[in-house]
Amino acid sequence: MFTRILIVVVLQAAIGFLVLPGILADDIDGQDLYTRHCVLCHGEDGTGKTDLGAGLGARDFNDKKFQAGITDEQIVEQIASGTEEKMFPFKDKLTAEEMKVLVPVIRAFGE
Ligand code: HEC
Repeated sequence: MFTRILIVVVLQAAIGFLVLPGILADDIDGQDLYTRHCVLCHGEDGTGKTDLGAGLGARDFNDKKFQAGITDEQIVEQIASGTEEKMFPFKDKLTAEEMKVLVPVIRAFGE
């Protein structure tokens, strides 16, 4: 009986340790998310001049006019919902926190 309780306590501690960092926005690596999910179309440099990005018409994140014309909320909305036949939606792939952490990554291209 005691062993069983001990196992449960240890397991809960282990799960807490593994799950908690994923929930805290500070620990989400936006750059890593961008590299894994967005570079294919938007490119390392954010210009969108990749085979796929250019073909589909991705905008240049370095363009100040693009940056001025879009709000943080619209960036999150674009990531969540995508654009039909151009950019697939990420709402089933990324958490709300992960999408938010991507905003400063997109903004950094315009600085
Ligand atoms: C399959 C290629 C593809 C992938 C992958 C992709 N995008 Fe896009 N994205 C596009 C295209 C094409 C557009 C332009 C859509 C349009 O004209 O409405 C776009 C537009 C955008 C825009 C700007 C919307 C606008 O009005 O111009 C943002 C911000 C954006 N993507 C962020 C991301 C982020 C962040 C990721 C990774 C999580 C990502 N995209 C992944 C193709 C992609």
